[in-house]
Amino acid sequence: MRKRRVINSLNNNTPIVEKPMRIVLAPMEGLADVHLRRLLTAQGGFDWVVSEFLRVVDRVYPDRVFYKLCPELRHGGKVSCGTPIRVQLMGNDPHAMAENAHLAVSLGSYGIDINFGCPSKTVNRRQAGSSMLKDPESLYRVVNAVRCALPAHVTVSAKMRLGYDDLSLMLDNAHAIESGGANEITVHARTRLQGYSPPAHWDELAKIKRSIRIPLIANGDIWTVADYHACVAASGTPDVMLGRGAVRCPDLASKIRKNEMTEPQWQAVRQLLINFWQDIRQTMPEKDCAGRLKQWLNHLRKVHPDAEALWQVIRTENQIGKLERLLEAA
Ligand SMILES: Cc1cc2nc3c(=O)[nH]c(=O)nc-3n(C[C@H](O)[C@H](O)[C@H](O)COP(=O)(O)O)c2cc1C
Repeated sequence: MRKRRVINSLNNNTPIVEKPMRIVLAPMEGLADVHLRRLLTAQGGFDWVVSEFLRVVDRVYPDRVFYKLCPELRHGGKVSCGTPIRVQLMGNDPHAMAENAHLAVSLGSYGIDINFGCPSKTVNRRQAGSSMLKDPESLYRVVNAVRCALPAHVTVSAKMRLGYDDLSLMLDNAHAIESGGANEITVHARTRLQGYSPPAHWDELAKIKRSIRIPLIANGDIWTVADYHACVAASGTPDVMLGRGAVRCPDLASKIRKNEMTEPQWQAVRQLLINFWQDIRQTMPEKDCAGRLKQWLNHLRKVHPDAEALWQVIRTENQIGKLERLLEAA
């Protein structure tokens, strides 16, 4: 997306070219909804964002389902600060995936992302999400059907884990995605079996990177600018997807771009939390607001001691007026 930039010169004829990085906001179902997406992308640094997944079984959804999942489609497929959004689909029926992909793109989605990483037991029992990693051929069929349904200039990406139980099919899966016609691939550096247990195995990503020609986007456990550099060194790719790290440090993408190693500032984050609260109070049913506020605060308290203090006073509070006063006083 970004043009290569000549940043300086070793001597008069040897330019050093800064390799452009791409930073993507991860899909996070039930967490990174339209409200949090708006707020996080407004902090800057993201090239695009992937929506929560839409589970595709065997039919084409009506437009309203896409608009509900991704209200940004009503605004040219962009979050309010201008960051494009890519709809994510999850399913194993190539035909249904292709038809829904076509519709999503015609409604304004910035390409299509395909989910091959979801660890949910219900989804996996129905042979979708990460269970498809047991059968590379099934990945190929879905990616290829989606690719064939879309114009050549529209990006198709796929997101996978290192494997289901182990790494034995890791390269086969990556190759299946590439030969199906995907333009890029994101890999969460864990197997389904590893769930979310640290560490993320960034070094395994280097093996994938070496064996494919399409760009690789590294994902998993990038919490700080230092983690970004460690991930790049281990995986060999400058492109990353940030999930929980961006939820905990909303300006992480922007800091990575500026290579700014400063500590997170609670006062700035507190103001974002207040903005978030005001946003959801205006748009969400009252009964859901307290839960959403606590859900984000629960992430923030992992890095901000003041957020932990606020969490302790509001965790059992559900009364809107009281919550508001406690938030203002934090
Ligand atoms: C609450 C939550 C919801 C998620 N939902 C999705 C999803 O809808 N689609 C998907 O591909 N990955 C989903 N993921 C996985 C993330 O996109 C990402 O791969 C994972 O969190 C690892 O990255 P991180 O360490 O930067 O968070 C979800 C993760 C979390 C924590």
